[in-house]
Amino acid sequence: MSDVFDTSNYATGLGQKLRRGLELGPKYFLVDVPRYVRQRKKLGLRLLDLGALWNPIRHFRIVKYLDLPLPPRYAEALAALDAAGVKLDNPPARTEALVSLWWDVRQSPGDVIECGAYRGATSLLLAVLGKFHDVHQKVLMLDTFAGMPETSAYDSMRTSGEFAPPTGWPDVIRRQIAALGVDDRVEVHQGLFADTFASWASRDPRFAFAHVDANIYQGTLDACEYVMPRMAIRGAVVFDDYNGITDLGARLAIDTVLGDKRPAPLAECSAYLRT
Ligand SMILES: C[S@@+](CC[C@H](N)C(=O)[O-])C[C@H]1O[C@@H](n2cnc3c(N)ncnc32)[C@H](O)[C@@H]1O
Repeated sequence: MSDVFDTSNYATGLGQKLRRGLELGPKYFLVDVPRYVRQRKKLGLRLLDLGALWNPIRHFRIVKYLDLPLPPRYAEALAALDAAGVKLDNPPARTEALVSLWWDVRQSPGDVIECGAYRGATSLLLAVLGKFHDVHQKVLMLDTFAGMPETSAYDSMRTSGEFAPPTGWPDVIRRQIAALGVDDRVEVHQGLFADTFASWASRDPRFAFAHVDANIYQGTLDACEYVMPRMAIRGAVVFDDYNGITDLGARLAIDTVLGDKRPAPLAECSAYLRT
């Protein structure tokens, strides 16, 4: 099997991680964290957030913090993705932790939603595993599929247009969906999350599992405000960027919606909450 994980988007080896960490570390503590604390104050959030100080450490460590079994046939699902030309953009540890948590809550009522699907691979992986195990849920895939929308003052490390796949990417995803035989399991919703949610006024879905992966403040806020009240009892939400050193805007949005609840570390920069 060729490598189904596309490593070009993230630092993989210890050397790369060290170099990236040294580039970002001093700025993180001297500029980003002080600004983040001021922004917490502005948003009326508790000022003390010691967890954010651990983010650079999490950045270095390829660690899964939650020990759950992988779904059976995980390797077969990766091989199917590979054969359909799908490349996973999130690294193996984060992907494994996410699918293991999904597997753990798969019996809960409701669909799967991914807010920030980018090239669609994580959603497709969950759809294929759902098909292999006859799990009765759809996977709702949301993104502009044209890159990050406008960023805000909370997103100093992110730029509008980042994560833009080639033009016409939803058509590529639809071909991959057909090749994987998951047409009846996946919905592709192109546009801003807020516009997609507005179009679902009469649908009012419920979710067993959610992946919030928007990296920036407004998208994360819109996603959390919509998804959290619609989560099933004994469901789970993964926040891909909660402990990321370049995504403090997403952390502000998540804390704003969760109030006193704190997501627990899942793997590397991701965190999760059981509902
Ligand atoms: C890091 S990528 C997602 C990676 C993906 N979850 C994966 O597992 O490969 C973040 C995505 O969030 C999307 N995004 C951020 N804010 C958004 C918004 N308000 N509406 C739609 N898409 C948004 C961006 O377009 C980008 O593709």
